Formats: sequence, structure tokens, C-alpha cells
Amino acid sequence: KSIMVLFGGQSGEHEVSLESAQSVLNALDRTRYEVQTIGISKGGKWFWGVEPKDWKTSDVVSNDNPQVTLVHDPSDPRFVALDGKELPNQGKFDIIFPVLHGPFGEDGTIQGLFEMSNVPYVGSGVLGASLGMDKDRMKAVFAEAGLPMARTFTLLRTQYNDDSDQILNRIELEIGYPCFIKPANLGSSVGISKAYNREDLRKSIELAALYDRKLVIEENINGREIEVSVLGNESPQASVPGEILPANDFYDYEAKYHDTSSRLLIPAPLETETMNKLQKMAVKAFQAVEASGLSRVDFFLTSDQKIYVNEINTMPGFTQISMYPKLWEASGIPYLELIDRLISLGLE
Ligand code: DAL
Ligand code: MG
Repeated sequence: KSIMVLFGGQSGEHEVSLESAQSVLNALDRTRYEVQTIGISKGGKWFWGVEPKDWKTSDVVSNDNPQVTLVHDPSDPRFVALDGKELPNQGKFDIIFPVLHGPFGEDGTIQGLFEMSNVPYVGSGVLGASLGMDKDRMKAVFAEAGLPMARTFTLLRTQYNDDSDQILNRIELEIGYPCFIKPANLGSSVGISKAYNREDLRKSIELAALYDRKLVIEENINGREIEVSVLGNESPQASVPGEILPANDFYDYEAKYHDTSSRLLIPAPLETETMNKLQKMAVKAFQAVEASGLSRVDFFLTSDQKIYVNEINTMPGFTQISMYPKLWEASGIPYLELIDRLISLGLE
């Protein structure tokens, strides 16, 4: 099989994608797969034939390196990569693995391009990816599926700008402190903060509003952070749950990617009954957003054993030390086999 790995991308999770993609590339068995790569710069240009580890995140990389071919430039509508004509090998590959996190990679937009180009790809389709990216709409379908969640307040930036005092009052009344303020459409904790008082809340909303026109404000749940991996299409399976022991106040961007003192407990020490419940809920969450291929579902578990679904990630971090593959390893599917399975699921 010939596989095209896409990485980088225009989101705040560009760097995370480089790490995930490098792990995938290192693991792909080159005797069985013909591997090609496209790196997407932060500016949205696509370069054929780059490796994430050499990627300097620069739009001018092609000028310095003749091995690297610009195959898509969003400022030039004639230049659309996936019709294949611009690719050095005429765009011949069997499947795309978009190892892309966040907006323009994990939110249905690029999946729409794949659909229109009639190429198979790994992971969720347009609907699953976009529902999984928009925390407000994700919660709406979770609620419809009966999944338990923290109290949430959805806020449009324009509403806040119109009458911020009234909005702050309502958030204090309906959610209270501490609370989390998040852009509705970003991943990896980018733009997220925790507020303990009105001044924090105001600043946090202003920060999150730099990233998105829609924000969600969530009640703080004091609980353990538990995650479950899901794999499959129409009959998805759940892995054993894992637990994050955060080093910081919450599992923020720093703690996730720079701070090695955050530890993973795999499997999470849990009662069998709680474990079964978490696995059922993870599958339900996967089906609620109509995900396919893979997803990681994140939960809070309180000391009185109450479970809250936090979110689903339809393209979770995928380095060899990331929770998603680690949980499958602990459930009997090693990294290499996991990649094989994802490719097969994408071709189904
Ligand atoms: N959004 C990051 C990549 C994750 O969920 O792992
Ligand atoms: Mg996410």
C-alpha cells in the first residue's frame, strides 16, 4: 500500500502534529508501505517530500531545498494538491493519514477536501471531525446521547462585547468559580484558562476570544482525569482506561508537551464496574459525534465515583508515548499493529 502522511498544519497544534507524525513515520514498515509525506506550513502551504524532524515551519523552505516541492498554495486557486497533478508522482497513493490536530486538520475541513478528491483517509469524516472539534456542538450531541457532563455556558464573542457585565453575572450565577474558559474550537489546551474570580474570568474570556468567535465556560470538576481510546468504524472498541497525574494545576499545554513530570497511569487503577462504565460511555461518545477510525474520550471521575465526559479528540496525540497508542498497547494492540488497523479502517 502507498500511504500519504500529512502533518504540520495551520492550527495552534502544529508542533504537536510534527511529533505525532514523526512517530508514525518512524514506525511505518517501509517494506510493506510506500510512504510519502506532505508538510503543511503554518501559513497553509503544502510541501511534498519533507520529514517532520527537518521541518523548519517556514514557507520558504522550498527555495532552500530543491528536494522539497510546493504542491498546494492557498493563495493560488490553480494549485490544488489533491487532484494529484501537482504531485511529483501524479498523486498516486492509496490512503491519506492526516496526522493533523486542531482546526483545518481535525475539524472536518481537510476531510471535505479528501472527500471531494475521492481519496480514502484515516479517521473521522467531515461530520465526526467537525462535531469533535466544536466543544459546544459536541456537548449538544453528548447531551442527546445522555452522557453526563459538567455544567457549561456557551458564549459568542459578539454577545460578550455587547454587554460584558451582564454576561459575567450570568456566568457567576450559572457556573461559579473556579471555572474553565475555552475557545470552542481549539485543542491541546491552547487558549484555555482557569478563573478563580471575576478579574480572572474577564481576562480569560479576552484571551480565549483571541482564538475563536465562540467560547465555552465550564464548571470545574474536582476529579481524576481518565481517558479511554476508541478504535473502529461502525462497531468501535474501547481500550482500558488510563489516568493522567497532572503536574500543574490542570493538564495544560505546558504539562502535556513540555513537562515530563505529568505521569500516565496505564491502566488506571479502577473498580471493574467503573471501568466498564467508562468504556461504554467512550463508545457512546464516539458514536454520538459519528466518529470513525480513532478517538480518545476524556473523562473526570470524582471521589464519589461520578463520571463526567469532558471531550472527544478525533485525532488524538499519536507519539509513541501518547495516551492513545499507550492505551491500545496495554489493551493488546502494539503501535505498529494499531497503525495497520487504522489504515485498514480508513480503507473500509
Ligand atoms: N489535541 C491533542 C493532540 C490531543 O488530544 O492529544
Ligand atoms: Mg480536544
